[in-house]
Amino acid sequence: MRRKIVAANWKMNLTFPQAKELALRLNTWVKIHKPVAEVFIAPTHLYLEQLNKDLRNSSITVISQNVSAMPDGAYTGDVSAQQLLSVGTKISIVGHSERRAYHHEVNKYIGKKITHLYENGMSPILCVGEKLEDRQAGKHFDVVKEQVSVALERQSNENLRDNLIIAYEPVWAIGTGRNAAPDQAQEMHAFIRKIIGDHHGLQVAHNTTILYGGSVNAGNASDMFDQFDIDGALVGGASLNFDDFTTIISARK
Ligand code: 13P
Repeated sequence: MRRKIVAANWKMNLTFPQAKELALRLNTWVKIHKPVAEVFIAPTHLYLEQLNKDLRNSSITVISQNVSAMPDGAYTGDVSAQQLLSVGTKISIVGHSERRAYHHEVNKYIGKKITHLYENGMSPILCVGEKLEDRQAGKHFDVVKEQVSVALERQSNENLRDNLIIAYEPVWAIGTGRNAAPDQAQEMHAFIRKIIGDHHGLQVAHNTTILYGGSVNAGNASDMFDQFDIDGALVGGASLNFDDFTTIISARK
């Protein structure tokens, strides 16, 4: 089912006391305001266990920023799907552009991460998005098509139909203050839905939740959410600020 989700990607920000305070404030706010959108937070792996406990029985979902492509073994510093699940985390971001850029993650490897998530009954938020030079060269649709189709090629339609979230995050919009225009984002979201339909069938395409990410803020969120194929947002910088983030959540009607 297509879901309305506003997700916070806290990246490598916030000490544990800061993260806990923000999480508990958000929890109180969500209880009072009962927003239409589901609210996700993605803290560093270190805090997952405790925040999952603190937010047990709340309507905030604590998710992971990343997962290993390997099931277990000698991979120092990595965290497996099974380990995430063992502390109560069922969803992980995969393929974020910062992982692609700084850790050289490629589409097939990202696909392996997705396989491990599904094998453990978990699910991905697959991040895709072109770089500025791709867009300037008119290659943005080709790049995103490759990212989506290769990462999903080995997944079953049943898994995808029930549990697929994609985040379209154009690299040139991340952390730059320069968000995609709503119609630019809508065009790419519709394109992503079409690719999924072509490869996995209309039912999967219809059920896929597609979030926009890249300089979403309290001022531009509602224009983004007005677009037909934009189901919600994956928010970086503005999610660290309680007022900004709750304004963005409220904008998802
Ligand atoms: P910003 O909202 O800071 O541009 O980051 C977006 C992002 O990368 C979310 O995953």
